[in-house]
Amino acid sequence: MALLPRKRRCKGIPTSIASQDHLGGSNPNDRVRFSEVGIFLVERRMGASRRRFLTELARKKGFRVEEQMSESVTHVVSENNTGNEVLELLEKQNGISRTGFNAALVEITWFTESMGAGRPLEVESRHQLQEALKVLAESAELNESEARNLAFSRASSILKSLPYTVTTMEDLQGIPNLGVHSRKVIKEILEDGTCSEVENLLRNERYQTLKRFTSIFGVGVKTADKWYREGLRTLDELRASDVKLTREQEAGLLYHNDLNVPVTRTEADLIKQIVERAVHKFLPTAVVTLAGGFRREKEIGHDVDLLITHPEEGKEEGLLCQVVNWMTTEGLILYGDITGSSHKERSKEPEIFDHFEKCLSIFGLKKELVNNLESKNLRNSDSLAGDETQGIGLADHKEAAQQVMVAAACNKDRKAVRVDLVVVPYSQYAYALLGWTGSRLFERDLRRYAKRLKNMSLSSHSLFDIEQNAFLPAATEEEIFVHLGLEYIPPHERNA
Ligand code: UTP
Ligand code: MN
Repeated sequence: MALLPRKRRCKGIPTSIASQDHLGGSNPNDRVRFSEVGIFLVERRMGASRRRFLTELARKKGFRVEEQMSESVTHVVSENNTGNEVLELLEKQNGISRTGFNAALVEITWFTESMGAGRPLEVESRHQLQEALKVLAESAELNESEARNLAFSRASSILKSLPYTVTTMEDLQGIPNLGVHSRKVIKEILEDGTCSEVENLLRNERYQTLKRFTSIFGVGVKTADKWYREGLRTLDELRASDVKLTREQEAGLLYHNDLNVPVTRTEADLIKQIVERAVHKFLPTAVVTLAGGFRREKEIGHDVDLLITHPEEGKEEGLLCQVVNWMTTEGLILYGDITGSSHKERSKEPEIFDHFEKCLSIFGLKKELVNNLESKNLRNSDSLAGDETQGIGLADHKEAAQQVMVAAACNKDRKAVRVDLVVVPYSQYAYALLGWTGSRLFERDLRRYAKRLKNMSLSSHSLFDIEQNAFLPAATEEEIFVHLGLEYIPPHERNA
């Protein structure tokens, strides 16, 4: 866990430092709005592509990001490294001694929250606490300890939502849902500036390896653990091994770089448009809705979740296959797998299984289109359709498909993006929308509330009143909240 040695802990950057605009950084097109803050992103464990993405994102928002460590860096941002590891790295790579610079070592949570706020936030212990709890939650998930995962995730989420700064344990008095273990971790960090359990995890080979392998699309904890026990450690070792991969995992490994780069809202909107266009080719009055994190107004996400429905129930039958086949031949979809229900390893939470027909896919999004849209030059044209590059999609011939996939993966003009297409019968649409909007924690809490306090069973398909022995129909999300006796919670308030 990156931490700032106590004596050098950052006192916080004034938020009113927005200075005169001037050109700066290595990208002269973006204006630096916060020149007093200089960010250096540590590439180790973040990866080059993700680092490049985060650099661009920050520069677009007026932050100064330095490619190299230098005197003008005020914030060294790292992800999944201990403070000591970062200091050692800076020493080795940049010849900077531990006492030789005054920058703050900060967590990626500080960075992402600052991006969300659109200005550099003060560095608070909260960022470090959140990150520590997230690491513990992840480790619990990798050990398939669902209860611990949930407890740490909740604790991290609570710290994020606190409207005040946490400096002592007294600040946390009376807060429910903060378990003994989480409190112990928080106490240790507040007192010592670091937590040994978290530090040890970050240096733990099994933790690192399982995290690496489960970051591949199609790889769950069980598979990752199996590979770990077989002695595999890196993606290159996996590629070179004779391990039998599923088609999904092959695609996941092939597009791993792109898929670990966050998806922007512009990209999500564009993909929605592309899908809408394809869907309307076959069923002009079908409705496509952007769900998931983007519906909660998040700016970036790990994938794009789209619901497809038709007001006349039954019309949507057979649609998905047509749409996916067409998009595959157009080169828009690089990988696609249509399933009736998701009994896949990747869904660890039984209550989020649903039985909708869906396509877990990888889109090949033309970067040029994204750039055009970003500079508001998007014209309605057929250029949304793909070029001659063929994805494998539902191809039968594996070898030929393999070659095409490699060609597509090397295609620098396209970014691979994970997209979930979910087909929903109209009568279940409100429930599907509620279920697919998330967040996962919100859905869990809502379902738990329904069960415990209302004796009702809520899913992405329906709400069942156990006492009345009846399903409660709903045409809108608002009606579902009424059934549950709750005030309506808009999507952007469902993040925690
Ligand atoms: P995501 O995993 O896509 O999360 O699931 P997200 O909130 O959009 O965040 P990103 O993508 O990491 O930015 C979105 C919602 O869809 C539900 C989840 O429960 C979550 O609430 N979901 C996801 C399902 O119901 N079934 C699935 O198979 C996958
Ligand atoms: Mn999503």
